[in-house]
Amino acid sequence: MRRSIRWRITGSYLVLVLLVLVIFTAYVVRALERSYVNNYQYLVAAQAKVISLMLREQAKTGAGTVDLVRLHAMVQEVKWRRDATITLLDAGGRSPAGPIDMSLPEIRQAFRGEEAQAIRTDSTGMKRIYAAAPIFGPANAVVGVVHVSAPHAWVIRQLQRIAPALATAGLLGLIAAWVIGAVLSRRLTRPLDDLSQAAVRLTAGDLHSRVPVAGPDELGRLGGTFNAMADRLQDTIHEISTERTRVEAIIAAMTDAVVATDRTETVLLLNRAAEDLLGVSRATVLGRRAGDLFRAQRLAGMLHEAAAYGRMTAEELPPGSAGERVVEAHCAPVRAGDGTVTGAVAVLRDVTELRQTERLRRELTANVSHELRTPLTSIKGFAETLLDGAMRDEATCRRFLGIINGETDRLVKLVDDLLDLSLLESKRVTLELRPVDVGVLVAHTVDRLKPLAQTQRLALHQTAPPGFVVSADADRLAQVLTNLVDNALKYTPEGGRVDVRVAAANGDVEVLVNDSGRGIRPEDLPHVFERFYRADRSRTRDSGGTGLGLAIAKHIVEAHGGRISVSSQPNEGTTFKVTLPRAAGQGGALSDRIS
Ligand SMILES: Nc1ncnc2c1ncn2[C@@H]1O[C@H](COP(=O)(O)OP(=O)(O)O)[C@@H](O)[C@H]1O
Ligand SMILES: [Mg+2]
Repeated sequence: MRRSIRWRITGSYLVLVLLVLVIFTAYVVRALERSYVNNYQYLVAAQAKVISLMLREQAKTGAGTVDLVRLHAMVQEVKWRRDATITLLDAGGRSPAGPIDMSLPEIRQAFRGEEAQAIRTDSTGMKRIYAAAPIFGPANAVVGVVHVSAPHAWVIRQLQRIAPALATAGLLGLIAAWVIGAVLSRRLTRPLDDLSQAAVRLTAGDLHSRVPVAGPDELGRLGGTFNAMADRLQDTIHEISTERTRVEAIIAAMTDAVVATDRTETVLLLNRAAEDLLGVSRATVLGRRAGDLFRAQRLAGMLHEAAAYGRMTAEELPPGSAGERVVEAHCAPVRAGDGTVTGAVAVLRDVTELRQTERLRRELTANVSHELRTPLTSIKGFAETLLDGAMRDEATCRRFLGIINGETDRLVKLVDDLLDLSLLESKRVTLELRPVDVGVLVAHTVDRLKPLAQTQRLALHQTAPPGFVVSADADRLAQVLTNLVDNALKYTPEGGRVDVRVAAANGDVEVLVNDSGRGIRPEDLPHVFERFYRADRSRTRDSGGTGLGLAIAKHIVEAHGGRISVSSQPNEGTTFKVTLPRAAGQGGALSDRIS
């Protein structure tokens, strides 16, 4: 409070008024004193003069002499104050009041015939006002002197009488100064208070804080400027936070993982994808040093190189950095406007699938070359033998050409299957979905394969009641069934049997292809749906298989939203199961009929 502007303004007013009062009083008192002294002196001198004139008359009538003793007693009567003195001196300087110092200047002057005045302290130390006047006798000779004195203290007493009035005026002046100072300063400081409170609110984050200050004066302009500044601040902060929210939303929505650190490698930012990929949670990681956090030490190293040396790096993180995933990291320094490095940002991409696809493609190329090479070698071998002369023997020629024809068929089938598979894998095949009665489709397919079963002396049965309708591409579904039944027939020795059944299960439709064949060994089971996988290479090649049939079947079934699985016991038999979702609206009545 002591230092507040209000107090200072009020204080200044008080000091000012006090100063004016002091100067004023000093001058007024001095002027008054001078005027009083003058009056007083005049009074004293006038009395001396009056008495001297009276005595002059006496001197005239007394023929040049005056009876000083009588007159002295008489003039004492005209004293208007008790502590005043009136002394008469004769021409010799003698006085009835006792001896008198003739050397006093006013007395000497009076003896010279002039009136005189003086102010002096007397022998008792009291300040007095003196006046002396000559008493003229006949022929204008000085026959005596009247000497009057009065105490100067009287002037002081007069002054003292006006002191209370002066004090009251001073006090009133001070009070007025206090009140006016307080009111004025209040008027001046209220807008300042408002301004400072608004500034405090603004600092505390209340961006809507404004001041109600208006008017054409400096404070009004200051208030206006303040409000304009607050507007600008609000706009700028709004812009920045919108921009920031947008950037954060973009980073959060990115499928690539993003990690950013500052110069000291403290993690500033980590998006959802990064949380998933690195197996950390934002809450525990933000604000901590990258080096202590990630299992991916190389990532911390890259961030360090970027933040410390401004180096850009791009590499695949060592295995285990992000669990099973293969991660490619790009790391770059973040620079401020003046080019200094302020941090580092890393973008991580999960390339697991990409690497797997690359691997599969390499394997496919190797497999395809291998698969093509075998029939081609065989064809070339027989053709050369024929050219070398074997064609001259007609029987041999026919037999060899038959083999070449068979190998060519196999090549064509292989290429056809490969094309089919590549179409299915690239999802370029559009399924023509229509309601298909699975029972009817199975009956049809089995009927077509019956002659093949007969030549191989196998019993082929089907339990396929109509009414199980699924939404499917009939040709593609027939392709799957043909493949499964064909396999069953192919891998079942003479005298065995193959059963095909259609049944409902949990609202889906199941097709089971069961045989009494040689079965599949448990270690081969997980792989039978892979491309070119053949459980028993030496024997299955003779059967003319490509190892692509089940891979194609799996693709087709999954494209229909279904599943395919296999169970098998070596030397007892194998069951392939295709599960297809039932077409909408075909559920209730049918399943009732079947159960
Ligand atoms: N019913 C089955 N019984 C025994 N093994 C089978 C059966 N079906 C498939 N397999 C095994 O799975 C492999 C892959 O089958 P598939 O993809 O149709 O190729 P392919 O029939 O051309 O050999 C076959 O080579 C065979 O070893
Ligand atoms: Mg097959």
